[in-house]
Amino acid sequence: MTQTRRQFLSLAAKASALALAGAPLVALLPSTARAAKPASPFAHGQSLPLPGASGLYGLLRPEGRLTLTAAAVPGLLPATRAQMLAYTTVQGGKTWHNPTLVLQKGQEFRTRLVNGLDEPTIIHWHGVDADWRQAGHPSYAVSPGQAYDYAFPVTNRAGTYWYHPHPHGLTARQSYLGLASFFLVRDAKEMALSRELDLTLGVTDLPIVLQDKRFDDHGGLVYAPSQDELLMGHLGSEVLANGARRPSLDAGTRLYRLRLLNGCTARLFNLAFETRGRKLPFALMANDGGLLDAPWTMDEVFLAPGERVELLLDLRGLKPGELVALVNAPFDPMHNEEGDHAGHAGAAPASQAPDGGHGAEHGQGHGGGHPAPGGAAPLDEGAAYPILHVRVVRQEKYDRSVPARLSTLPAASGPLAPGAPRRFELALDRHAGRWTINGLTYDMAASPVTVARRAPEAWEFLGARDGMPHPMHLHGYFFRVTARRGSPEQVRRRAVDAAGLLATDLGLKDTVLVWPGETVAVTPDFGNPNYPGEQTFLLHCHNLEHEDQGMMLNVRVS
Ligand code: C2O
Ligand code: CU
Ligand code: CU
Repeated sequence: MTQTRRQFLSLAAKASALALAGAPLVALLPSTARAAKPASPFAHGQSLPLPGASGLYGLLRPEGRLTLTAAAVPGLLPATRAQMLAYTTVQGGKTWHNPTLVLQKGQEFRTRLVNGLDEPTIIHWHGVDADWRQAGHPSYAVSPGQAYDYAFPVTNRAGTYWYHPHPHGLTARQSYLGLASFFLVRDAKEMALSRELDLTLGVTDLPIVLQDKRFDDHGGLVYAPSQDELLMGHLGSEVLANGARRPSLDAGTRLYRLRLLNGCTARLFNLAFETRGRKLPFALMANDGGLLDAPWTMDEVFLAPGERVELLLDLRGLKPGELVALVNAPFDPMHNEEGDHAGHAGAAPASQAPDGGHGAEHGQGHGGGHPAPGGAAPLDEGAAYPILHVRVVRQEKYDRSVPARLSTLPAASGPLAPGAPRRFELALDRHAGRWTINGLTYDMAASPVTVARRAPEAWEFLGARDGMPHPMHLHGYFFRVTARRGSPEQVRRRAVDAAGLLATDLGLKDTVLVWPGETVAVTPDFGNPNYPGEQTFLLHCHNLEHEDQGMMLNVRVS
């Protein structure tokens, strides 16, 4: 299986007609005048690629119907100029790859996906309100050379959503090889807030996707997970920001809005900003479902695959010449299943690598001892490492201040039906070597969960103590997190209320991280009136290796 998959890139390249259509790479790649480092096949000292008027992640405000062609594009990855997969569109003589789609709430969104790969694909609009036929359910995957048409009104709250492939069993690899970008929704109130804070999309309001990758000797992307990695998640040897490695961003002494997306298949982040040897606090302003009601000041934030946070980074206290690093701060990745599963069929031997030096509390960085094909060893999830440098290069007059209130959250769904919550147990089937939800793995024909559109639901996710963290994602609907119980200490100490919620739990969520031993209570709202008839959405783990291995269920809404 692995062999044929590795050939996929070169095959896909042939299918790519648009690939050669003059990608304006030069405009995206940083001026490498500074910080040129010696002898490496890779570019160093890159600037953070910002979404420009076209090119990779370029801003695109669709009018009329768009065509997105999923195909390989040679030379596109900023880190190494390697080939990557991208959604490409050409409009008025300009070319976008993985466009950052910018939609106004209320507008109609119409797109044709053209499959230029050599295997099935379908786009899922993650967090975006759309009827299940429009939402990228895997049963709608289209074959190579075929197309799928989407048309739906944009009804979401203003916020940072995203899109990526969702063909069953192929989601991780297609996403990893490059298919993913932002779907930003704006509305009048959110834009007024942006004006109040003098924030400009692409300049001081920056979508940044974080993704970890492994490379072969020529800088090419490698995705060839072992059995062990299919079980625990595939970790890259380095983390890219908008496709660049350890890039820097030149900034002024003002506020910046960073829209951060964890686009990794499996890696968890504990993000922090560091300057002058200490943490620089920031304000959480939005998460999966848009603005919180009020900004929340914090200095570390967990971000799991699929989740988004919008942060306000305040550089007003810094001076030109100073640096701020966006880092992963040490944490325990809690891979508590390690050591127990080593005997299961096909598993690679357990890691013998040193654990990165964070002491006994620090979990085993899985995969640390496996030789990565043609590349460096995986970067330990819980280790301290830099991701991005912000260089303060100019003094700015900036006299805006963050309002005490940002938005009004919609009312939580109505009174709950009496009775016990619906429970979802997340546990390893040690015999099958797969993660399960209530003992089940995905069956496209089955509907193990049926809910009524009008009845408020209370759900609980239960993370097995001898498991690992699972970011649980529901398609089509948002939920509120109402309680965390049994949280590990590193989570509990961040609680902001008596129910054990984290600041990132306060708004509308579509993905919630469930730690080992934890019970996370949520109230999904299935009341969306915009979806006609019966719906079949998905509930799955957004660790994409887990998802592809079947940690997913259909959810029927009638
Ligand atoms: Cu972003 Cu079903 O996933
Ligand atoms: Cu989704
Ligand atoms: Cu999982």
